[in-house]
Amino acid sequence: MIKVENLTKKFETITAVENISFDINESEIFGFLGPNGAGKTTTIRMLSTLISQTSGKITIDNRSPESDGEYIRSIIGLLTESPGMYEKISAYDNLDYYSSFYSISNTIRKNNIKKYLKMFDLWDRKDDLAGTYSKGMKQKLALSRALIHEPKILFLDEPTAGLDPESAHMVRNFIESQKKEKTTVFLCTHNLEEASNLSDRVCIIKRKIIRIATLSELQSDDKNKRVEIVFTDDADRYIKLLEEIDEIKNIQSDKNKATLVIEKPEISNPIIIKKLVDSGAQVLYFNEIKATLEEIYLDLIKDEEAK
Ligand SMILES: Nc1ncnc2c1ncn2[C@@H]1O[C@H](COP(=O)(O)OP(=O)(O)OP(=O)(O)O)[C@@H](O)[C@H]1O
Ligand SMILES: [Mg+2]
Repeated sequence: MIKVENLTKKFETITAVENISFDINESEIFGFLGPNGAGKTTTIRMLSTLISQTSGKITIDNRSPESDGEYIRSIIGLLTESPGMYEKISAYDNLDYYSSFYSISNTIRKNNIKKYLKMFDLWDRKDDLAGTYSKGMKQKLALSRALIHEPKILFLDEPTAGLDPESAHMVRNFIESQKKEKTTVFLCTHNLEEASNLSDRVCIIKRKIIRIATLSELQSDDKNKRVEIVFTDDADRYIKLLEEIDEIKNIQSDKNKATLVIEKPEISNPIIIKKLVDSGAQVLYFNEIKATLEEIYLDLIKDEEAK
C-alpha cells in the first residue's frame, strides 16, 4: 500500500531523512519510532504530499505523489504534529468545511461529523469555537478531521500526545479497530507501550533506518535473554549453585525470585534445570521473560550512538 525506496530529504544543511526504504501492506499498523529530530515527521510530510523529497521514490496505492497528488490526498487521513483549525468558527463548522473537500455525499458527511464528534465526546461542545477548545479537545477534533472521509491510509503523528488516559485508551482502541476496516495505519509515537501493543511491525529510525521488524523478531534477536526462577524458599540459597554455571551471564535475586541473563536458552536452560533438580532445589516456576519494546529500543539506539 505504501512503498518507499531510497528516500532522502535534505533541508539546506541538514539531512533529515537518508536513504530509507520500506514497504507497508494494506491493513498493516506500522509503528514509526525514533528520537526527537530522527526524521519521523519529515517522512510523514513527504508521504502525505505536503513536501517533496530530495531523492528517492514514494508509491502510495500504486500511484506517485508527483503525478497523482490529488488522488493520494483523497485516500489518506493525516493527523499532523501540531494540527491547526480555524479557531474563530465552531468545531462542527470546521469539520463541515474540511470534509467539503472530499467527494463524499452530504448524508455521509453529516453522519460522519456526528459519528466522530460523538466518539470523541465533543458532540455537546460542537457549537463552541474551536479556539476555545482545550489542548486535548483540539487533538480529538483534529483526529476527527483526519477520519471524516474514511481514508484507506491514516498517517498519525503522535495521536495520543496530550490526551487524558481515557481518551488515549479510546484512540488506541480505535486504531486497533481499523484493522477490520482494512485501513493502513502509519503511526508515529514516543509511547513505546502503545507502539508495542498496536503495531504489526515497527521501524526504528534515526535519520537512517536502524531496524524494521515485528516485536517477536526483535525479542528473539535480543542477545540478552532472561529467565526468572521462582523458588518456594529464599532464592539466595541457590545463588552459589547458579554462579557455578558458566552459561549464566548475570544473576539477580529478590526474595524467592532469581533473574538470570543468558545468551542461548536452548543450551543454558537444560543445564540450569538439571543442576537445580540434582541439588533438590524447590522450584515453583521457571519462566521466560521477554524484553519490552522499550528495552530493545533503548539498546538499539545506544548501539547506534556508539557507532
Ligand atoms: N522545514 C525544515 N527546515 C529545516 N530543517 C528541518 C525542517 N523540518 C525538519 N527539519 C529538521 O529535520 C530533522 C528531522 O525533523 P523531524 O521533525 O522530522 O523529526 P521527528 O523525528 O519528527 O522529531 P520529534 O520526535 O521531535 O517530533 C530535524 O533536525 C529538524 O530540525
Ligand atoms: Mg515529529
